[in-house]
Amino acid sequence: MKRYKVVLLSGDGIGPEISEISIKILNRLSQKYDFHIDIKEEYFGGIAYEKHKDPAPKATLDQCKACDAVLLACVGDVKYDNLPRQLRPESGLLKLRSELNLFANIRPIKIRKSLLDSSSLKKEIIENVDLIVVRELIGGIYFGQPRGQITNTKIKKAFNTMIYDSNEIERITEVAIKIANQRSKNICSVDKSNVLEVSQLWRDTVLEVTSKDKNLNLRNMYVDNAAMQLIMNPRQFDVILTSNLFGDILSDLAAMLTGSIGMLPSASLSNSGPGVFEPVHGSAPDLAGKNIANPIAMALSTSMMLKIGLNEIEAADDIEIAIDNVLSKGYRTSDLDNGNCQVLSCSEIGEKIIKEI
Ligand code: IPM
Ligand code: MN
Repeated sequence: MKRYKVVLLSGDGIGPEISEISIKILNRLSQKYDFHIDIKEEYFGGIAYEKHKDPAPKATLDQCKACDAVLLACVGDVKYDNLPRQLRPESGLLKLRSELNLFANIRPIKIRKSLLDSSSLKKEIIENVDLIVVRELIGGIYFGQPRGQITNTKIKKAFNTMIYDSNEIERITEVAIKIANQRSKNICSVDKSNVLEVSQLWRDTVLEVTSKDKNLNLRNMYVDNAAMQLIMNPRQFDVILTSNLFGDILSDLAAMLTGSIGMLPSASLSNSGPGVFEPVHGSAPDLAGKNIANPIAMALSTSMMLKIGLNEIEAADDIEIAIDNVLSKGYRTSDLDNGNCQVLSCSEIGEKIIKEI
């Protein structure tokens, strides 16, 4: 029997509630298939700060580095907003990404047929949307040095640095090429090269790397236009390749095509070593403890973990199919309520999903 070691970081806010469902799903799948998943939970985020005064304790990071895959729910709470930046839950997340060298963040945006009416956009616009945002995750303005505040001047100032070297751009472009080659071979690279030097290097490097592959079709788009095009005609996109900050913004925007950010999973990958699989949504402190959160993005992240991280393709597909079945029967969490469905709690919809597996 195959055995896998998974580290679970359930984090803050709705994290524990949605994690509980993914644990049950994984247990169900290990009964059904010939594998065993050893799930080890570790402190991470705000809860780790409470326990160890560190949002990403070394013990947690060491466990993450030594496992087969990391399943992460979400971190953060307004109550940590006034902590020094390096102690905030978000900084813990950035540290995890950086320590595990997770330079490639994959965010698939696929419209589920039964949710066509749940988006704020018209059905005709979002029908058949199926795109992937490939976001560079450990560079750019999120990590660029120097950064800081200048307080000894008359007017307060603060600054960050948006910086990439060509190696960082090359390796994320390679990931986008690999994904595009399994799909329609179309890449749209998003930048702001009409204004930023760093984007000019991005554009030049992406062109250089992609032009080695004659089957690929590359388009470039400025990020402001990309935001507009994603709302106007999202079907034109297949693989969107972009930098850390632009990818952060565009993926939330694209999430709304699906009806709710509660539907979006992601995978963060390096070239070797375990990946981190996590929903795109945050910790939603206002929903925490009420058993009303949508556990589907977490369940879909679990599916991505099985597929990409553990190569258990059938089990991964089972989760997707189960979710589609539950949705097509009209069951929803409240974020997807269109007045025409049966609204269930987080744990109830979890049970429905498990029953379908
Ligand atoms: C995301 C989140 C994070 C990011 C935050 C929580 C640091 O918004 O994964 O998209 O900005 O990358
Ligand atoms: Mn984000």
